[in-house]
Amino acid sequence: MGLFSKNFLWGSASSAHQVEGGAVNDWSGWEKANAKRLAREAEKKYGHLPSWEQIKDQATNPNNYISGHACEHYRMFREDFDSAQALGHTAHRFSLEWSRIEPVEGRFDETEIAHYREVIKALRARGIEPFVTLWHWTLPVWLAEKDGILNRQFSEYFERYTTKVAKEFGVEICFWITINEPEIYALNSHYRGIWPSQKTGFINFFRATHALNRAHRNAYRVIKKINPNAKIGASLNTSYFESAGGRISNCMKWAVDWLWNMRFLRNIHNELDFVGINYYFHNRIKGFWFNQNENKKISDMGWEIYPEGLYHVLLDLKRFQLPVYITENGVADMNDVFRADFIRDHISEINRAIAEGVDVRGYFYWSLLDNFEWDKGFWPRFGLIEVDYETQKRKIRPSAFEYKKIIEESAIKP
Ligand code: BGC
Repeated sequence: MGLFSKNFLWGSASSAHQVEGGAVNDWSGWEKANAKRLAREAEKKYGHLPSWEQIKDQATNPNNYISGHACEHYRMFREDFDSAQALGHTAHRFSLEWSRIEPVEGRFDETEIAHYREVIKALRARGIEPFVTLWHWTLPVWLAEKDGILNRQFSEYFERYTTKVAKEFGVEICFWITINEPEIYALNSHYRGIWPSQKTGFINFFRATHALNRAHRNAYRVIKKINPNAKIGASLNTSYFESAGGRISNCMKWAVDWLWNMRFLRNIHNELDFVGINYYFHNRIKGFWFNQNENKKISDMGWEIYPEGLYHVLLDLKRFQLPVYITENGVADMNDVFRADFIRDHISEINRAIAEGVDVRGYFYWSLLDNFEWDKGFWPRFGLIEVDYETQKRKIRPSAFEYKKIIEESAIKP
């Protein structure tokens, strides 16, 4: 008998815009308008990375920044799920693309709904539990043109879309994720202005998080009404903030923990059946300085690999007394040299947290396939499965088989 419960869910995650291909939404328009600029800025942003020599051709090519056909997962989902099944996955997280379902305000496209019904069926037929994300950052063009999530009626628009899909799939889906990483979206789109709709400033940031809070609450209520047995959560981006010691660092840690990890959760915890967490970052704070990390191991994107952080984040969540799913955790690693250890080490930290009483019930590696990494384009390679974007051929990476072994053994020795 392994250390994880029999019912622990193992799988991977993805999002529509990053894999499907053929998107017509606010991002696809923004990509076309910004591709040349992003290619020009690449060396300044990524030139310092050890991976630069290997990524530079792609990163300096404007085509890299246009999602276009992506992985053609829209067409190839069945074969991709065959691979997930062969790799021992028992759950899969994916998102519905709002712009496909409601391309024109108030009009739903039945063909697209039928498409997602097939996606759900294909997962079920392979014994894979679907986790459906309602919103993973992309907006229908009609809504983006009306100020997107800052529109006063945003939560009502979101509620109307949610009602439609919950009525369609309410009985087929047990697990719903309303919103993906509200904090990251608000930060990049409404504070730093580096993603569409390129707004900046604190006021926009707070307005954005407030709008997403409300949208979550409404969606929760609507889904529950349609299917009282549904389990509904949100996927939050959580970082492990570590204090280097001393009064200033401790205060800073406390403040950013509250602002980043706890604020959204505190606001919505009465409307949550589980907490979804996406874990990628550790941030060591020394005095007033952030990111004083040792960076002993970094990914192709320069992000530190720090599995212990996941353990600390999980223990902090214990106070909410809710089941937890790791809805994303992954590494950009084109040569597949870190990924197997990355997965093993993070799962081992989850194990440690479970042993200390945190109710973790599932792990979703990000991502099943290499995919379109937003403003960075295609060069970061997160996939368990490598994608050749010219031919759309897939190749399972060795680390994916290591993950399979972990799932089969279901037992990581701490
Ligand atoms: C997002 C994904 C993204 C991943 C890696 C998460 O913040 O939800 O869409 O691809 O991080 O950057």
